[in-house]
Amino acid sequence: MSVPRRIAVLAGDGIGPEVMAEAVKVLRRVEITCDQRLDLVEADVGGVAIDRHGTALPDSTLKTCETCAAILLGSVGGPKWEKLPPQRQPERAALLPLRKHFRLYANLRPAICYPSLVHASPLRPDLVAQGFDILVVRELTGGIYFGQPKKTDALSAGEPGFEALSCLAQKRAVDTMVYTTAEIERISRLAFTAARSRRGRVTLVDKANVLETSVLWRNTVREIAAEYADVTLDFMYVDNAAMQVVRNPRYFDVMLCENMFGDIISDEVAAATGSLGMLPSASLGSSSDDSAAFGLYEPAGGTAPDIAGKGIANPIAQILSAALMLRYSFRLHKEATAIEHAVKETLNAGFRTADIWSLNHQKVGVSAMGDEIAKRIR
Ligand code: IPM
Ligand code: MG
Repeated sequence: MSVPRRIAVLAGDGIGPEVMAEAVKVLRRVEITCDQRLDLVEADVGGVAIDRHGTALPDSTLKTCETCAAILLGSVGGPKWEKLPPQRQPERAALLPLRKHFRLYANLRPAICYPSLVHASPLRPDLVAQGFDILVVRELTGGIYFGQPKKTDALSAGEPGFEALSCLAQKRAVDTMVYTTAEIERISRLAFTAARSRRGRVTLVDKANVLETSVLWRNTVREIAAEYADVTLDFMYVDNAAMQVVRNPRYFDVMLCENMFGDIISDEVAAATGSLGMLPSASLGSSSDDSAAFGLYEPAGGTAPDIAGKGIANPIAQILSAALMLRYSFRLHKEATAIEHAVKETLNAGFRTADIWSLNHQKVGVSAMGDEIAKRIR
């Protein structure tokens, strides 16, 4: 047996624990078929951590993650914690600090519209009949999410902007969008490298007609592109890109985005596939050499509180996130591919959870879906 690989398993809230159980089932199966030991360590995060420890990201959880090579995350948040001040809510108090702490600058969100599931897409059938396959590469630790200053001040009479139209307290809020060449360079290289093993196109999504940061993005990406002559680079303003996604999704291969544009575009692209419950994501830190990167892996879909605890969630996004983890953080390519094949075979065999079900298919719950996938891993 080879050396154990340590993974922090943070199931989180909503459907998190249900879908995580299926990902763990699949990883246990991989251990047997591939003779790879995986050391899974559970810890609390999100709303459940607020309830148990008073904070969404307890120190003990952070410490556990530090001893691991990867984090497999379920999802965090839910109605129960929505009334807390924004800085204490699970999404902001757990996800963003995790990204920042582990310097997870590269967020990869593959959105695949499987031809067998096109009926689930909200787009016109003729636009998606042949499926599509877009990789959103989102910068994750810079931009307006983290730029300083970031604050809200009271405005007093006489200050610029003070205009008492009603009895509302007068305030001024600032968020700052900052980017450096280095931040743009490292994520761009990753996008170009990814495009090489795909269809060879990178589209930079920006707002260079308005934003200084976008101009820096364009200039930097253009220079880097010269080193990747085999990749086609084009530029698209974010408003146009949002429109082209619903008009002609097959145009896109890799969409390279700064943090906030990537947040928005990745949801749009994900929804266009029709199967939010199927999409994994990887958030990677840098690796100094060719070795595996530290990464956080999570489904794109969120906590789905409306169906939590009912046993009907789709575990595929969580299972595919585990596959991305094996590939990027452990370089277990064969094992990752085995999981991805098992998912495709399970779909081809006609098994569907409620979110992607259509006539003539067998509707299964979260656990049966996990069983079907696990038994197809070879
Ligand atoms: C995402 C989410 C987060 C983000 C929120 C929950 C902070 O929308 O991962 O896309 O905006 O990055
Ligand atoms: Mg988002």
